[in-house]
Amino acid sequence: MAEIKRSIQKRRFDVVIVGAGGSGMRAALQLAEAGLAVAVLSKVFPTRSHTVAAQGGIGASLGNMSEDNWYWHMFDTVKGSDYLGDQDAIEFMCREAPNVVYELEHFGMPFDRNADGTIYQRPFGGHSANFGEKPVARACAAADRTGHALLHTLYQRNVRAKTQFFVEWMALDLIRNSEGDVLGVVALEMETGVPMILEAKTTLLATGGAGRIWAASTNAFINTGDGMGMAARAGIPLEDMEFWQFHPTGVAGAGVLITEGVRGEGGILLNSDGERFMERYAPTLKDLAARDFVSRSMDQEIKEGRGCGPNKDYVLLKLDHLGADTIMKRLPSIREIAIKFANVDPIKEPIPVVPTIHYQMGGIPTNFYGQVVVPNDAGASQPVAGLYAIGECACVSVHGANRLGTNSLLDLVVFGRAAGNHIVSEHLKDQHHKALPADAADKTLARLASLDARTDGENTQELADDIRRNMQSHCGVFRNKDLLAEGVEKIMELALRAQNVAFHDKSMVFNTARIEALELDNLVETAKATIVSAAAREESRGAHARADFPERDDVKWLKHTLWYSEGNRLTYKPVNLKPLTVETFQPKKRTF
Ligand code: FUM
Repeated sequence: MAEIKRSIQKRRFDVVIVGAGGSGMRAALQLAEAGLAVAVLSKVFPTRSHTVAAQGGIGASLGNMSEDNWYWHMFDTVKGSDYLGDQDAIEFMCREAPNVVYELEHFGMPFDRNADGTIYQRPFGGHSANFGEKPVARACAAADRTGHALLHTLYQRNVRAKTQFFVEWMALDLIRNSEGDVLGVVALEMETGVPMILEAKTTLLATGGAGRIWAASTNAFINTGDGMGMAARAGIPLEDMEFWQFHPTGVAGAGVLITEGVRGEGGILLNSDGERFMERYAPTLKDLAARDFVSRSMDQEIKEGRGCGPNKDYVLLKLDHLGADTIMKRLPSIREIAIKFANVDPIKEPIPVVPTIHYQMGGIPTNFYGQVVVPNDAGASQPVAGLYAIGECACVSVHGANRLGTNSLLDLVVFGRAAGNHIVSEHLKDQHHKALPADAADKTLARLASLDARTDGENTQELADDIRRNMQSHCGVFRNKDLLAEGVEKIMELALRAQNVAFHDKSMVFNTARIEALELDNLVETAKATIVSAAAREESRGAHARADFPERDDVKWLKHTLWYSEGNRLTYKPVNLKPLTVETFQPKKRTF
């Protein structure tokens, strides 16, 4: 290690961004265009980041199909969040939404068009006109490949702005000085296996979610919670990690996403009696109620014996009545996915679907400039100097206990842009690099050295699979005390075993086994945060459904969870119920 330490290379940038998905690239663009030296690190080629998998649309109250406004969008988002979202941040996001969408349009994003040339919009779950009165078409769509279109547009703009990409680089740890300021990252070039210090005045985490802590997930294999693992190891808490969204329509047995846009276009869910059961659960919005609500209703149908198939363990998504033309024009990838992963052609037959893990509402706590904020000694939120987080790895919190579909792409561009602007303004005030401590990379190098030295130990993939199995069975759609307590015990046991992972062929340079072992450290942190936070929250709110505490409890639990890795400790902080300019939406019982 001493040898590596002496020789570890350093590079300096104004800003280092970890992650090249929608939020990282939107921020990078703002920074590069302002003339800052920006490095963007990504484990994969930027256009393969998980944003590429987003299908149905980006939410904005453009009102192209019928009357709409940002205040209705804000109401739907607050209600969708089961009142746990911070209303200042939600107002900020919904007001900004039309601006960021028009900006994307001007960047060249190929949205679908209406006959009059305006952007095509489709209805989506939980989005309504006039405070819940009827569904509204608010999802701005590029067929069923909206994330793909967005990511490619942002990549091209970044290439033009001369953003510097470090492709196939994995960030391992944050560098902090004795004051707690963040001064950059220690990262690994995957091709050579060599670590490097990337020093920066500002470090921005945009690493996406940790959907791979679950067995059945719509998420890419790269979604291992790297930013959250780095934050947790650096003493920064993770917020509201108990809230994970089950998307109602993953292909049964495969987990691949079938966009809510299918139901937005008129697709419906059927049980084994051929009944459109959502009419019973959500008489107004029906199949387009909020996702937590639809997922629980599906689960209920299956539990009560009205599931389909030989094991009665899925429901059907019927869309053949939309006609081949609409399916080919608006949902071409869905047809392809259904044929490849479910062996059905949706032009003729329904798709078997089940609720599948899709999105984490929690993450690294931030304000709406993207600054990472932690409680100070007096309990007030205080920015961590030099550190920002945006996108799915961050918790700002606009999604609260349950996110509305289309608000994820929106979150990426609104807060990517806001963080970019804030960093530029801070940079104008102070342009010096703080001194790196002598031990900047020591902990990371020790972690690498101990991993590389181990010749015998646990198998990474077996352990990762055990984590996934346990999270799935102990922390699923419906949770309860005993299941969670047992789950906490098992995850803590697996966390201990993960410290003894070994991989074999050390002669390889581009060593995926080594990368997977390093990713495991991040899976462990996010799994612990999730299950410990879930075991403590004794109420049902949004995506966190406790069979033993079926009601929402605003008296005891209208608060955000903060989980600290050190000591596996929990604290809580208040929800900001005060919007920026309008009246508070007071918590009410949710019906759809
Ligand atoms: O259903 C979907 O197309 C997913 C969109 C989202 O998660 O926002």
